[in-house]
Amino acid sequence: MLKLGVIGTNWISKMFVEAAETTGRYQLTSVYSRRESTGREFSDDAAVFTDLAAFYASDIDVVYIASPNSLHYQQVKQAIENDLQVIVEKSAFSNPKEYEKIYSLLRLHPNVHLFEAARHIHQPNFKAIAAKVAEMPVISGGTFVYEKYSSRFDAYLAGEEPNVLTREFSAGALTDLGVYPIYAIVALFGLPDSVHYFATKLANGADGRGTAILRYPEFDMTAQFGKMSNSYQHSEIMGRKDTIIIDNIAELENVSYNDGVGDELVISDPAPENPMIAEANDFAAIMEEPETHANEYKELLLTSQRVNLVLTDLRQSAGIVFPAD
Ligand SMILES: NC(=O)c1ccc[n+]([C@@H]2O[C@H](COP(=O)([O-])OP(=O)(O)OC[C@H]3O[C@@H](n4cnc5c(N)ncnc54)[C@H](OP(=O)(O)O)[C@@H]3O)[C@@H](O)[C@H]2O)c1
Repeated sequence: MLKLGVIGTNWISKMFVEAAETTGRYQLTSVYSRRESTGREFSDDAAVFTDLAAFYASDIDVVYIASPNSLHYQQVKQAIENDLQVIVEKSAFSNPKEYEKIYSLLRLHPNVHLFEAARHIHQPNFKAIAAKVAEMPVISGGTFVYEKYSSRFDAYLAGEEPNVLTREFSAGALTDLGVYPIYAIVALFGLPDSVHYFATKLANGADGRGTAILRYPEFDMTAQFGKMSNSYQHSEIMGRKDTIIIDNIAELENVSYNDGVGDELVISDPAPENPMIAEANDFAAIMEEPETHANEYKELLLTSQRVNLVLTDLRQSAGIVFPAD
């Protein structure tokens, strides 16, 4: 059983703990929160810490970090230095400079694994898409959409500065929701040759929504995402006549394959109620049997590093600078 420590007490941490415990492979033992009362509200049973060093020294094997993006680097660094396994929420790091330092540190701690919690690419329905893509002789391009009005945009309109819509926290539409379509594109097609991001910026310089184009040698993939409006457009990958049609690139509930000559086949299974169970299982398998799953781990880490590069190039093309840069 993996002893789990959690940093950040928002709803996403609750969802991860529920997923992790559902797998039967993790048990929550420690919570870090800035306030004792918040930590206690999060869990009745786990030990609660308001001091990060004491939290890292507590009875844990693996830490799940779901704090604002700009804090990930320091918190991950400290976890690795304590020889703890690390699951960090997307977007893992603000830029490649941070990632390179973490990568160097990982070499000094060869038993530590670092996972970026990009939950959708672990879903069986994503794996069904990848398998279908591998069978398609031609890819002509595609569009992935994830655009959802955020309650935090209400706060922004009311004159507040929610973490998730400020550059100080290495946040904005791209690194929050945009990461889902970008991750999916990079996981399916690898590093693009070039990228460009057309961002709609808020008054504080962060991006509220936008469209990114990732150019591959023979096709372009477009990602449309945002937190200030709702889109009900589906996502798709186009072959020659055939098309993969995806209801939502982050949730992946309904996926079908239309052969372009009369047949459309559903290739998805019903999605699990908790969308984090698949990643919790994948990470546990690697931590429990690192040698058996060495290639999967290598692939996940490589994809995470590539996404970090692409996100940074996209941001730079739109002139969005984070203080962490
Ligand atoms: N995978 C997914 O589906 C998913 C969904 C949502 C979010 N996320 C990711 O999860 C991470 C957290 O996102 P969020 O929207 O939950 O962020 P958030 O609400 O801004 O902060 C998350 C937690 O971090 C702590 N925190 C907040 N502000 C802080 C500050 N200024 N200094 C130190 N700690 C602070 C708080 O915990 P305490 O009060 O207990 O200290 C808070 O509950 C992000 O990386 C985001 O991209 C992933």
